[in-house]
Amino acid sequence: MTKDIYIGEILRNEEIQEDCFLMKMKVASSFHDPLPGQFVMIRIAGLNDPFLSRPISIYSFSRGKSFCSIELLYRVVGKGTQILAGLIKGSQVEIHGPLGNGFEISTVKENIVFIAGGIGIAPLSLLIEHLCRSACLFTSAITVYLGAQRASAIVGLDKLQKLCRDITVCTDNGTLGTKSLVTQAFQKNIKKFSPANTVIYACGPKEMLKSLAKILNTSKFSCQVSLEERMACGTGACMGCAVAIKDQKGTLNYKRVCADGPVFNLADIIWD
Ligand SMILES: Cc1cc2nc3c(=O)[nH]c(=O)nc-3n(C[C@H](O)[C@H](O)[C@H](O)COP(=O)(O)OP(=O)(O)OC[C@H]3O[C@@H](n4cnc5c(N)ncnc54)[C@H](O)[C@@H]3O)c2cc1C
Ligand code: FES
Repeated sequence: MTKDIYIGEILRNEEIQEDCFLMKMKVASSFHDPLPGQFVMIRIAGLNDPFLSRPISIYSFSRGKSFCSIELLYRVVGKGTQILAGLIKGSQVEIHGPLGNGFEISTVKENIVFIAGGIGIAPLSLLIEHLCRSACLFTSAITVYLGAQRASAIVGLDKLQKLCRDITVCTDNGTLGTKSLVTQAFQKNIKKFSPANTVIYACGPKEMLKSLAKILNTSKFSCQVSLEERMACGTGACMGCAVAIKDQKGTLNYKRVCADGPVFNLADIIWD
């Protein structure tokens, strides 16, 4: 386990939107290439308060000759992320990863739809980048629905605009793009997509994923979602991140978001 712990040296850590930071760091080249949807557990090297690491998705990754670069896109919500936001160039962080299962990139589909709520764009962005670089670009149409409460909470749009053209931006209060919940914007266009030829990837707040589950309810759409449960160990040891998941026979099982996820089939999740 410890072999996957690395020291990251901060190259940049900038506030790119209100309370939202983009951190770039370099790590040793032995860091494994992450799968889209994988994450790292991050903490300040040598700091024991807060003791627990925080899970953050890998937003972008590149391999140079002598080191790897990792970017994390994160929102400041509490003590841990507040401490991260205060780090300056040259500071060191301890990162454990890449962790988790990542998204399953299965058979090539005609339509690939992404639905992101707020900071949920972070894990999806690496997947979009990956698909745009792969053959999928020539055979599939990529459509992105990106939503947030207000304009200042929309993040990751610059990068998306470099990768794809069909992007619907929406905000709850109408300050950017269409005034709508992101799930409603998708629902309005759902007839454009046929379940057999479409794969959906989503990440966002629990309420957003719950309403997506209602929209897709009895449909045959394949939809993978990345869950953002609170975590303690991040490595499968404490069961602190367990969620209820149905197996193929419909039997309830508890799965760990950190070790069995964070990506699950939306239809298998049992919401509380
Ligand atoms: C697999 C995974 C990937 C993630 N990727 C990202 C990412 O790329 N960018 C990003 O900004 N955040 C991401 N998160 C969420 C992030 O881990 C939390 O926001 C962070 O741990 C909060 O730590 P804190 O000490 O700042 O806040 P805390 O003091 O721990 O909590 C502050 C507030 O945030 C709420 N909160 C804490 N953790 C979560 C959570 N996991 N989900 C929902 N609410 C939470 C608490 O209930 C509380 O209200 C991810 C979470 C998971 C599990
Ligand atoms: S956080 Fe400990 S098992 Fe997932």
